[in-house]
Amino acid sequence: VSLKPFNTFGVEASARYFSQVNSVEELIETLKFSNAHSLPLLFIGGGSNILLTKDFEGLAIQLNLKGISEEIINENEVLVTAKAGENWHQFVMYCLDKNYGGLENLSLIPGNVGTSPMQNIGAYGTEIKDVFESCKVLNLETLEIEVFNLEKCRFGYRDSIFKQEGKGKYVILEVTFRLTTKDHKIDVEYGAIKSELENLGIKKPTIQDVSKAVINIRQSKLPDPKVIGNAGSFFKNPTIPLSQFETLKKKFEKIPGYPNGDFVKVPAGWLIEQAGWKGKQIENVASHKLQALVIINATGDATGKEIFDFSTEIIKSVKEKFGIELEREVNII
Ligand code: EPU
Repeated sequence: VSLKPFNTFGVEASARYFSQVNSVEELIETLKFSNAHSLPLLFIGGGSNILLTKDFEGLAIQLNLKGISEEIINENEVLVTAKAGENWHQFVMYCLDKNYGGLENLSLIPGNVGTSPMQNIGAYGTEIKDVFESCKVLNLETLEIEVFNLEKCRFGYRDSIFKQEGKGKYVILEVTFRLTTKDHKIDVEYGAIKSELENLGIKKPTIQDVSKAVINIRQSKLPDPKVIGNAGSFFKNPTIPLSQFETLKKKFEKIPGYPNGDFVKVPAGWLIEQAGWKGKQIENVASHKLQALVIINATGDATGKEIFDFSTEIIKSVKEKFGIELEREVNII
């Protein structure tokens, strides 16, 4: 079965077996089958954070669980639960329609709700950990359902237990967020949001205005995966020791950095641009001309291997120029 429709890079790769599951019961049935045949498993959500570098000799399971429910818990808070297969942005729009606040800065992020906790998705000053209540997961070994609260998820920058010791052990079935109904916490500290709201002439923004600003910013520099294959940021922004940053600053005066204790987070996009990669294309693959951190399937015919090799070249040249080792953010399959 071709997985091309199930990965936003739009690369061709096949899975030996494929199953789309619409309920927890179907998922459990499918897992019993795969266990009986000892098949390797690949779970696919929105396919927006994977790079398929070869055919998959196992069972690919596309999680298509749908549904949203909510429970008002006090005069200013609601718990909203979405099943794993709900599209992330549609879910954000649903919440904004009901005037539930907390997810507006995360508008237009590709992917599904079920994968949002995996890497603690974040943008424009917010991460899901800020509004996360809990998630329900299926333990792949016991086939029992477990609940993970905030603490148990161990969220970090683009990180969670699901990428660490829990890797490959659980499937996320649904996620519950604690959102506001009245006194919304508007976060427009991120420079780009501030200036976009100014452009729009908005002085006292609502959560819907913040969403609109974020959508405008994203559309202005991030390629739409429906038009050009990509998986958003290909690398994480590296965190380096303050001392290393200060040494680099002597040589590269303009290097941007966001200090955090004894460490500094440096935008990978800047490093990649300075290393000469922004907008550069090699055969079918390129670094996006408006945001160097995003690798694109420029012609639509790129293979996963080509994209992977391109990213290796970027890692090499950034390492040579700055002594910083970039880490891939996208899951390589
Ligand atoms: N920059 C450049 N050249 C570039 C791109 C960026 O010089 O080509 C520099 C600029 O100095 C800019 C700074 O990098 O001021 C930050 O750029 P931007 O605001 O675009 O954010 P980012 O750090 O590149 C991160 C996330 C994005 C998220 C934005 C906004 C990561 C790996 N990426 O990018 O997330 O949308 O912040 O909050 O943390 C994603 O994960 O797929 C993603 C798009």
